[in-house]
Amino acid sequence: MAERAAPARQMPDPDGGVAFDPADPAFVRNPYPRWAELRESERLLATDEGMWVLTRFEDVQAVLRDARMSSNPRHAEDSRRLRRQQRMPFLPDDASPPVMLFADPPDHTRLRRLANKAFTPKAVERLRPRIQEIVDDLLDRAVDRGEMDVMADVAFPLPVVVICELLGVPAEDQEQFKGWSTDIARMLDPVVDGTILERAVPAALNFVQYFAGLIEERKTNPRDDLLTGFMQVEADGERLSQAELFAMCILLFVAGHETTANLIGNGTLALLRNRDQFDLLRADPSLAVAATEELLRFDPPVQATARSATEDLEINGLRLAKGDGVVCGLAAANRDPRAFKDPDRVVLARGRGTHLAFGSGIHYCLGAPLARVEGQLAFTAMTQRFPEMEPQTDDPPYREHFVLRGLASLPVRLG
Ligand code: HEM
Repeated sequence: MAERAAPARQMPDPDGGVAFDPADPAFVRNPYPRWAELRESERLLATDEGMWVLTRFEDVQAVLRDARMSSNPRHAEDSRRLRRQQRMPFLPDDASPPVMLFADPPDHTRLRRLANKAFTPKAVERLRPRIQEIVDDLLDRAVDRGEMDVMADVAFPLPVVVICELLGVPAEDQEQFKGWSTDIARMLDPVVDGTILERAVPAALNFVQYFAGLIEERKTNPRDDLLTGFMQVEADGERLSQAELFAMCILLFVAGHETTANLIGNGTLALLRNRDQFDLLRADPSLAVAATEELLRFDPPVQATARSATEDLEINGLRLAKGDGVVCGLAAANRDPRAFKDPDRVVLARGRGTHLAFGSGIHYCLGAPLARVEGQLAFTAMTQRFPEMEPQTDDPPYREHFVLRGLASLPVRLG
């Protein structure tokens, strides 16, 4: 596509844009060549789908940090992508409660403050021994088999058990949650068809029904868990309504489940494909912190997020009109050679850099400290306990998502 002198201020002509098909199976399997092409073509891409797409580190970061860019889909009047998202059962419309991820200040500030305490690095460090136990237990179960599916045996169960224990969901109920957050997470994709909705709506209702029961139980039997904490906040100052409480619980599940699973899956695959780096981590487990950051940068579980302009504005020389929706390519930014040397290589010792896998600005991932600890412990345990671990296939299948990139399965021999 020819270079444009300056980005137009209206949404692009659907016939004149750059082809960007996030549902293309080739893109789902390996989005990075296409992200690279887009990143090198122009700064603000008008795509065939009627979206603006940003792919350069500096631009993505600037948009995420700009208070004039809203996370609330209601601002994206002109964005076809975000209009589709509004069909999400717990996305804000006039009747529904604000959800932190899709809220702007002041609602966002209030909701985030309420949840923040449970997720500070200090609070999460206290969970480290328990998370280690869960990881060890999951790996113990695989040892005798001599093989495992990293996704089914470690990556998916680990974050569910952790978030259930944090919130206070009894272990015997955890089986029920399998699949619910995955079904809802598909709603984050740019194209939400009837099949996705058919699964997501009942899943959200299942969550609400489940938490309604648990909340009733906690009223008579308060515990030292996050759910009781949220309920007491509500009782103290009426700052969290019942509907907001449901929304918060669902958000924590959906935002923390598949993302963390994909960190473990994508990260393990990257280690297996870069054996020298696998061996490096095995030989020096103190690399786990840096390694987790590098694996997040290299193949981030959340490929993109969206914002819309609340007014006509200019950021970094990019002009947007009020209502314009922008897809921020986090994964593309993480491989921007302007920001990272040799971005397509996995270099565990690269050091803790400013990748955008957890976003940036006020919506920076609330669960980042927790996800980091889960990743660090999982990568360390797998490389320590299974030094000869090998993939059983060169080409493991991906789930169909675009926004959340992750494997459907990753079968390995334990050696
Ligand atoms: C590797 C795992 C994870 C990744 C890659 C990830 C990624 C992200 C990203 C990119 C955002 C910002 C979205 C935006 O700006 O539009 C975000 C927000 C959020 N994440 Fe995570 N996340 C992960 C794990 C978790 C976990 C474990 C939890 C909680 C249990 C969590 C809870 C949240 C919440 C509540 C928000 C909204 C924060 C806000 O709006 O202020 N995430 N996450």
